[in-house]
Amino acid sequence: MGIPAHEATTRHLGAVYPFLSEPGLGNRMVGVGGSVDRAGGVLVGRDLLGSTFAYDPFELYRCGFLTNPNMIVIGQIGRGKSAFVKTYLWRLAVFGRRAWVVDPKGEYGALARVWGVEPVALRPGGPIRLNPLDTASPARGDGTGARAGAEEMARQRGELLASLSAASLGRSLLPTERSALDLAVAVTSSSAQGSDRSTSGPTLPTVVDALLHPEAESARSVGTDVAGLAADGRNVALELRRLVAGDLQGMFDGPTSPGLRLDGPLVVLDLSAVYHSAALGILMTCATAWLQAGLGAVTKAVGSDRDHPKRTDGVVVVVDEAWAILANLGVARWLQSSWKLSRARGVSNVAVLHRLSDLDTTGAVGSEQVGLARGLLSDSETRVVYAQPPGEVERAAPLLGLSSTEAELVPHLRRGVALWKVGTRSFLVQHRLSPHELSIVDTDERMDGRA
Ligand SMILES: Nc1ncnc2c1ncn2[C@@H]1O[C@H](COP(=O)(O)OP(=O)(O)OP(=O)(O)O)[C@@H](O)[C@H]1O
Ligand SMILES: [Mg+2]
Repeated sequence: MGIPAHEATTRHLGAVYPFLSEPGLGNRMVGVGGSVDRAGGVLVGRDLLGSTFAYDPFELYRCGFLTNPNMIVIGQIGRGKSAFVKTYLWRLAVFGRRAWVVDPKGEYGALARVWGVEPVALRPGGPIRLNPLDTASPARGDGTGARAGAEEMARQRGELLASLSAASLGRSLLPTERSALDLAVAVTSSSAQGSDRSTSGPTLPTVVDALLHPEAESARSVGTDVAGLAADGRNVALELRRLVAGDLQGMFDGPTSPGLRLDGPLVVLDLSAVYHSAALGILMTCATAWLQAGLGAVTKAVGSDRDHPKRTDGVVVVVDEAWAILANLGVARWLQSSWKLSRARGVSNVAVLHRLSDLDTTGAVGSEQVGLARGLLSDSETRVVYAQPPGEVERAAPLLGLSSTEAELVPHLRRGVALWKVGTRSFLVQHRLSPHELSIVDTDERMDGRA
């Protein structure tokens, strides 16, 4: 006698066979402010233990699933990290999200062209300049007055320049150097106050000049004379001068070139002309700082419109080849502090790197470098982990929060497949490409002789 057939809905089957099939993140019914809303997302590909896999950091944040919208994409060379990022941005655009990319290898050109925009190509002595000292206006609604706002902007400029000079010097700034720098920033910021920031705010040359030739009033304020203050700031001035008068001049050493638009769907800063420069991390930091400064103008804080979610558009800022920034303690510290502002700025930051040891190659266990790696990871609740060698996985597993089974799996992941850690949940996702997208993501032309 046959056993009678049992019929159940797929929802009930999920309870009968738990742990076998993931329901995924997207298309769940979630209550928001008393109403029912959908936590949607863009299709990434196939969940190898479930069905389709969709993801949108802004939606997941709004639903309370994530507490920060930042992402780290990590994996060996050629595993499909950039291909995922490019199609992710392309698909997010359907939902009105915008993307700003720091592109050190010059490989986002095809993506820019399908969007109808030209990458902003930066090269020493080229026609385009970005002023990294353009600063983001302070977060709205925080009650800061004009004076406090100006102080906050001077603080942001001081932080950035201190990081750039610490990175060039290869050590932290001395207290005397830091004060000389802050005074120079204050003098150049106040002399530009009240005028149009886009054309006459402080620039690297004006700050270098103020460091080399300080004002008597500044010197008095720290109990020294002009010669003493000039001596305090001299090393910092000479390091920063490299961006102004040395081999790297003509990119970040003047007011931002007119006509650059940040209101389109995609902005790509192409730094391929300096990809082999030893100062790549510093240049990428200048480019990232300039992008971050533009965010205040175009975004709303993440979650600021919980009752009207559609009004919160959101920008995804991608730093591809982020190891160049993260390997350098000075600028890595700046990057981490700027990530902390992601929610206030309405931005989801994405860093793409090869391995976590990019972060701590020079750091002993327990060193500041390792602390930075930890901090950056805890500020990135989404970690997309492509294949990595077993030794690397062993080191990275505790930092990435991989279980022993996941750590065993990661070295065997094939191209295009990644382990997604989203908040406390894990997904094994095969990134799917459409035939049209293949031409946007292809970086193999030099390998197979088509170049
Ligand atoms: N999901 C996928 N399906 C099919 N092909 C893919 C997929 N992902 C990437 N590829 C192909 O693999 C090649 C390498 O991909 P990609 O440039 O994204 O690697 P990467 O991890 O960013 O490498 P690198 O570390 O050198 O920057 C590309 O030419 C791309 O077309
Ligand atoms: Mg890549």
